[in-house]
Amino acid sequence: MPQTYHNYIDGHWVPAQSGATAENRNPADQRDLIGLFPQSGTADVEAAVGAARRAFATWRLVPAPARAEILYRAAQLFRERKDRFADDMTREMGKVLAETAGDVQEAIDMSYLMAGEGRRLFGQTTPSELRNKFAMSVRQPIGVCAAITAWNFPMAVPSWKILPALVCGNTVVFKPAEESPLTAVNFVQTLEDAGLPPGVLNLVMGDGPSAAAPMVEHPDVSVVSFTGSTETGRRVNEAGARTFKKVHLEMGGKNVIIVMDDARLDLAVDGAVWGGFGTSGQRCTAASRVVVHEAVYDAFLARFVDRARHVVVGDGRRAGVQMGPSIHEAQLAKVIEYVGIGRAEGARLVLGGSRLTDGDFAHGWFHEPTIFADVTPSMRIAREEIFGPVVSVLKVRSLDEAIAVANDVAYGLSASIYTQDINAAFTAMRDVYTGLFYVNAPTIGAEVHLPFGGVKATGNGHREAGIAALDVFSEWKSIYIDFSGKLQRAQMDTEQI
Ligand code: UN1
Repeated sequence: MPQTYHNYIDGHWVPAQSGATAENRNPADQRDLIGLFPQSGTADVEAAVGAARRAFATWRLVPAPARAEILYRAAQLFRERKDRFADDMTREMGKVLAETAGDVQEAIDMSYLMAGEGRRLFGQTTPSELRNKFAMSVRQPIGVCAAITAWNFPMAVPSWKILPALVCGNTVVFKPAEESPLTAVNFVQTLEDAGLPPGVLNLVMGDGPSAAAPMVEHPDVSVVSFTGSTETGRRVNEAGARTFKKVHLEMGGKNVIIVMDDARLDLAVDGAVWGGFGTSGQRCTAASRVVVHEAVYDAFLARFVDRARHVVVGDGRRAGVQMGPSIHEAQLAKVIEYVGIGRAEGARLVLGGSRLTDGDFAHGWFHEPTIFADVTPSMRIAREEIFGPVVSVLKVRSLDEAIAVANDVAYGLSASIYTQDINAAFTAMRDVYTGLFYVNAPTIGAEVHLPFGGVKATGNGHREAGIAALDVFSEWKSIYIDFSGKLQRAQMDTEQI
């Protein structure tokens, strides 16, 4: 019998009120049933939001350093449990063990960062315009926050949202992707074990329309932090606007590596392989475009294809495997569809292009690392997010053209340049319109203590992780303390002082 897992509401592990469950299967081997997870609906969201709202009344008054101590203990527990959590994560979403251990590591790092923040949460102090008066602004918790997250970074990204929300004094309802519920259980269980009081963090599992939409519409939810597709993000933003929620969106990408004529090609090739095929290309930061100066185009392409040909594809829990499967059949179908689109558009397929089905691949959603050369900026494979192991290589004649091509997409998450020329690096850094920029490194690998997010169709002006996350999960209250003992009128009579 497969194990049955439960939601976590008001400090109790409970089934969905309807009793409905959904299977969670290993994308590398569909015969492997990981467990049954709740298929939640409005009633479950109602219970979770109610618990979070009640818990907010007391949690907001717990001193921030005491809230932070719980996160510090959680960090220690995440570290102890890292190997098990990484194995569970690879089993349910497919990326290789080294990457899932890195994903848990992000939760460890984020816990320590936010634990430290409990003793800072710095506000602003400023001189008053008037005598015998102080002026300051402090961060206030907002209320109940909904965290709605994707499956590709199933512990890292929840930690970027939930831990800042908690240390700021908010309470949380968490709706993880239905493809990675076991990791969500592991995450929440660890925070419970670290001593988080009942109701402060609630876990509601299920699909988006049934379990996330009621959170976004709920009048008692004040903040929604969402990671997922641009189309879903648009709907979240529209629905959230009706009840004046603060909505933070982290959506698609069509990220670019620029390889200049003076680049160290060994580094650029390494970066393109890791940026394009790491996590099977299923990162919002994936380097799905490589824009190469014509002087090194042929040399780069030959070496890139040669390296990518040797990427070892397989079950991410096996030693030596470098690239796992797509997350599910629909995602694999999308990869296959885009390979067809690229061929039809006249791009030159120079590596891969097929699903893998032989032997051990027969039971999973595997696809070859795939490279298209001679891609032009107007082709759909150069413009649309594929979220799979497909990289487009484009040729340019100058830095200006590279920057123009880099910017000629709807998205703006991550970009990188390989060059030895500091002037070229700074020019591209300034002029490529993204939220993340790398020099002589690929587009992936953001660190938790800097703001993470993008511009254009990638985001809506907010950032997660880093100190920037505190701005999503707190709001300013400005305070004026007048100890002059008389009526002083700001702005009106400052000239008389
Ligand atoms: C994502 O794909 O949603 O910078 C996040 C990176 C990772 C985060 C990716 N740390 O590639």
